Order: sequence, then C-alpha cells, then structure tokens
Amino acid sequence: MQRITVDTYRYKGYLSFEDSLTLRTVPVEDDLIQGAAMLSVVARNFFKQGAVTATKMTKPAQAPTKAPMIMKSYLSHQSTLPKLPVPPLQQTLYKYLLAVQPLLSEDEYTNTKQIVDKFGKPGGLGERLQMKLWQRAQKTESWLSEWWLHAAYLDIRSPVVINSTPGIAFPLQDFADQKEQLRFASKLIAGVLDYKVMVDSENLPIDMMGGQPLCMDQYYKILSSCRIPGPKRDSVVVYPGNKANAPKHIIVIHNNHFFTLDVYYPSGKPLGIDELFAQLEKIINMSPKRARPVGILTTEHRNTWGKAYRKLKKLDKANKKILKEIERSIFVLCLDEHTDNIPLDQRLSELACQMLHGGGSTKNSGNRWADKTLQFIVGTEGNCGISYEHAQAEGPPLISLLDHSLTFVEKVGNVPKSAPINLPDPKRLEFKVNEELLQDIEIAERHLDMIVDDLQVHAFQFQPFGKNMPKANRMSPDAFIQVALQLAYYRIYSQPAATYESASLRRYRLGRTDTIRSCTTDSVNFCKAMLNEKKTPSEKYRLLRKAVEAHKTYTNEALFGDVIDRHLLGLKLTAIESGLNVPEIFVDQAYQTAMHFKLSTSQVPSKFDLVMGYAPDVPDGYGVCYNPRETHTNFVLSAFNTSPETDAQKLATSLAASLMEMQQLTIQNEGSKL
Ligand code: COA
Repeated sequence: MQRITVDTYRYKGYLSFEDSLTLRTVPVEDDLIQGAAMLSVVARNFFKQGAVTATKMTKPAQAPTKAPMIMKSYLSHQSTLPKLPVPPLQQTLYKYLLAVQPLLSEDEYTNTKQIVDKFGKPGGLGERLQMKLWQRAQKTESWLSEWWLHAAYLDIRSPVVINSTPGIAFPLQDFADQKEQLRFASKLIAGVLDYKVMVDSENLPIDMMGGQPLCMDQYYKILSSCRIPGPKRDSVVVYPGNKANAPKHIIVIHNNHFFTLDVYYPSGKPLGIDELFAQLEKIINMSPKRARPVGILTTEHRNTWGKAYRKLKKLDKANKKILKEIERSIFVLCLDEHTDNIPLDQRLSELACQMLHGGGSTKNSGNRWADKTLQFIVGTEGNCGISYEHAQAEGPPLISLLDHSLTFVEKVGNVPKSAPINLPDPKRLEFKVNEELLQDIEIAERHLDMIVDDLQVHAFQFQPFGKNMPKANRMSPDAFIQVALQLAYYRIYSQPAATYESASLRRYRLGRTDTIRSCTTDSVNFCKAMLNEKKTPSEKYRLLRKAVEAHKTYTNEALFGDVIDRHLLGLKLTAIESGLNVPEIFVDQAYQTAMHFKLSTSQVPSKFDLVMGYAPDVPDGYGVCYNPRETHTNFVLSAFNTSPETDAQKLATSLAASLMEMQQLTIQNEGSKL
C-alpha cells in the first residue's frame, strides 16, 4: 500500500491538504483536527488511502532562518531566506470575503459569497489554479517577483511621472546663492559615492525586522540602473558597480542640457568635494540658457515614449551613445532653476510637487530623465530631494541611501578649500532631433502640463504628536494613523473606501510588497461610533483599540505573506497563463470595488524630515504617504483636480481633526500620556 505524506493547514473551520499531487480543502469541525494523529485520520478518510501521514503546519511558510551573525556580504544570506509561500486557498477566500464585506451592500455580498464559494468548492477551479500556482512556487525562487515586476510596473503604459514614480523632498535647505546650491550638490554626490562603496563591496548592514534578516536584493538595483521603454512592456537594466567596466560617471542636467561628469579619477579614487564643485560650476557656465527639453519625452505615455525612443536611437549614432551613457550612469543630478515665489505655507506642497513632476514645462519638468532609477534634484532656493523610478525598489532602500548621504552632508560641514585641480571639462551630451521629434517634444510638454495641472498636492507636518503618543498608550503608531485615515475619509463621505497600505515582503527571497487592507469591519464600526452622538467615550475608545488591533493583526499577517492581494493576483495570472478565461471571482463587481483603492497609502519612515508623495491610484481617490517621527508626522496627500469628489486639503483637515479626536479619546480613557 502506498503511504502519502501531506501538509495540512487549518483555517477557520477548513482544512487544506497539500502534497505534490493533490490539493484539497474540506470544511471540518474544529475538534476533529486537534493533534497530528487526528489529522492523519481526517486525511486518510479524505484521501481514501490506508496510510497517510499528515504534518500540521500552522503557517504555510518555511520558518524564517535566524540571522547569521557574521556576513561576508550583504547578499550572502539571500539563499537562506525562505521562499514566499502560497497561502492556503480557503484562508484567502475567507479573508477576501471579510475584506469586501464592509465595501458591499448585503445583496452584493450574498452574490459575491456564492461566486467565491463556487470558486473554492472542493475539486473546483480555485483548487486547480492553486495547485498550478503551488507548482510554480516549487520551480521558481519566488512565484511572485517576476509577475509583480511586470504587472505593477513594466506592463503599465501610463506615464511613470506621478503615477508610479514617487518624489521625496528633503528638509528645505537655505542657499544664499548658487555657490551654496553647488556646494550642497557636491557634498551630496560625495555622500552617495560613500554609500556606493558599501554597496559595491557588499558591505551594507543587513536590514532586520523582528530579529529576522530581510532580502537585500533591491539595494544593488538602485545605482547605475534605468528603465527602458518598450513597445508593449518596458525593461530594466542594471550595471553593477563591482563588475569590470562599471560606470564611473553621473549625468548632470541643467537648463535641460545633459552632461556626463566623471566622478572618479582613472585610479578609481572618487573626486573630492572641491573638485566636484569646480566641475558643477563649469556645467552651470556651459549651460546659461534653456535647451530644448528632450528629457520631457520620458514623461510621456510609455508607448509614445517607446516610439520616440526608437526614433531618437535611429536618427543618429550619437543619440544611441547618449542614451546608453544616461542609462549606465550611476545616477542623475538635476540642478533646477528658480521656481516661483511661493507663500511659506505652501512651500512644502510646492517642494513635493517639484520632486514629483518638476512643476511643468516652463519650470523644471524638462530638466529630468524620468526613466532613471535615481534622480537627485537640487534647486536654487534650497528645494532638494529625489525622484525615483519605482520598478527596481521600494522606498526603504532609497531611504537608507538618503539617510546615509544626508548624514554625510551634515557631518562634512564646511570643507576647507583645496588647491584647484585641473580636470577635463564635463562632456556635453547633445541629442540630435528632427522635425518629428520636435513635435513629439511639444506634445510631451502639453501632456505633462496637463498632468501637473491635474494634480493637487497638500503636504503638511502634523505637529501635536508623533509616534510617541500611540506608543505610550500601547498602540501601534502605524495602525493609529491608518485608523485616523479611515475616520478622516468616513467623516467626509459617510462610507468607507477600499484602502491599500504597502507591507514589506522582504522577509522572503526577492520579496517586494503585499497589501494591508486598512478598511476592516472593525475600522468601520469605530468610524460609525465616532459619528454617533449616542455612543459614550468609553465605547468609542473600546472600538478604537479594536480597530487599531485589527490593523496590527492584518499588518503582521501581511508581513508573513499571509494575506490576500498577491495570492489573488497569482491565481488570476495562473488562469490567464493557462489560457483560461478570467475566473468569475475576478470579474465580479466586488473584486473591482475591492481593487479600486480610493486610499492608496504608504509609510516611508526616515531619520530625517523627509516627505514622500505620489499620485492617487484611481481618478477619484487619494494618495497618502507619511513619515512618522517621534513627536510629529509628515504627510503628503494628493488628489486629482478633475475629480469633483476629492480634495486633498479637505482630507488633510479631516485627518488632523481625526488624529486630535483620537488623542483626546485616548487621554480621556487612559489618563494623560503624551
Ligand atoms: N505599543 C507600543 N509600541 C508599539 C506598539 C504597541 N502596541 N506597536 C508598535 N510599537 C512601536 C514599534 O515597536 C516601533 O517602535 P520603534 O519606533 O522604536 O521602532 C514603532 O512603534 C513603530 O511600529 P508600527 O507603527 O507598528 O509600524 P512599523 O514601523 O512596524 O511599520 C509597516 C509597519 C507596515 C509600515 C512596515 O512593517 C512595513 O512593511 N514597511 C515597509 C513599507 C513599504 O515597503 N513601503 C513602500 C513604499 S514605496
């Protein structure tokens, strides 16, 4: 008789059996599945086999390994990281129903439940897709990473500017004149090169979360990398810094002119701050007037830019070389020109905009190469930050680089002037363009200006408290902010919205993100109670804590890849790749509603007062990004002006009021703790 070994997962009354051949899920009574022996009995009945060994798995993940104490390289632990698990099917379907419930009417929910039950029935389509997905997971390093790169980035045809490329603004610098601008830029370049030493020698400290090492794959994809437009799908290139012929130059853009600046001597020694300063000064002198903004082509719809890219390349061999020079460069430095005189209270929002889109064709939007993974922006008035193309990395690795570089700038202080060294002039890169490309540039300018006009950005510092207050009251600050956002939205719209918050999957090999769905039944109950005068403060507070706890629980599950969004995407793509029709569960209106993220949110913490911003995910939604500090929080909220339903300023006001009310409620119930 054949003996089979199966892994079993239990989730809320369902038991899943998985082996390499079979995956089945059956509803079971809870008391039936206590202990491995009992599991084997259930499994034997199920498989109709005389000999079945069942192993109980509480989590469908390999146990994460302990962080090795000594690492030769920040990448050497990569192969020891667990692979991203495929969550049990019934668990995902159960959680999916929980997630859509607050967003649907009773009738809609009943209909969706029938569709979901049909999808998940034993022997049904869901199980067949799950098995195929599981097989993919056995064969690949990560069943998700390539799909995600394509689905979330490289297949998307809308312009990268504002849609997928975030802008991160530094604290405002105080430049008395252009020399100070260039001096800051020189120190920043030196700071990044200092960080690059750690990347190239694979000597970066390994990020840890909850005592576990995280995947560091994204760290070597930030420098010397670029996105390339393609006819249907873009691609990405990386030129690792520790390989022979590694790039030794950066691109500087000033007044829309492009320059190559070698930042190392032929010996491999990096240029000093004074030398960099002298080279940047030469660039300023070599580009006193604005040039035709060829760079603005990169802000176009990806198909349009893809066509223009091929035209540029075909027109002249020199263009081909310039494109390669930009793509290989370590990073781009944009020396921006004056912006308008902005009232002080709007400067933070304006600063965020400059990093996001450059302010329009008459301002600095042509002074960019939007395909470049990392663009530093240093403006004449102290407006500085970065714009980063998102395909290669999430915010945290970028923030690590920024924290290091800004600390370097602070530490280096005023550098004593050294004797001038004669270096060759930076090389000007001049694109050849014809009439057709000139027209493309004009059209790109118009399109970009429409994007700029349509985006409303409201950046602000919430000062009354930061992480300290929720922490002092035993609540997760992130959960507290997310619940405040739910309340802020509910207060305006009297209904909840599907909400996306990114959670790191870097616990797993090649992990990127999954979705924390911040709108839960508990958050809605809290919002309703807050708007109900009959509810007592203690009842409201009980519901606040419940909502915060629910968020934290969802977050913890997301960090273990144990939530629904990437799994559902995986099942959908499995069906498509198998040549099947898209299953009913994914064409159901409930799925569209669940994926229509009216609140697209992300926490990007930093040691510095950085603010990151991006556009909403949907036309009638909001983008919300925040950097929680100990005693305050920086927020950037965005909305589209063309949507009559949204207003970033209004949501910001409602958010501040919600945070304050939640603090009051906490003080009332807990006593005065920060
Ligand atoms: N009582 C007291 N303190 C608590 C607490 C509680 N109940 N819960 C959490 N805290 C503390 C934490 O220990 C932590 O302390 P620290 O500031 O000393 O480190 C602090 O509060 C923050 O924790 P929390 O607010 O719960 O959030 P987090 O820092 O764990 O972040 C995520 C949560 C989801 C944002 C994070 O896990 C993550 O995935 N980040 C990546 C996001 C990402 O990739 N974004 C991409 C952008 S492009």
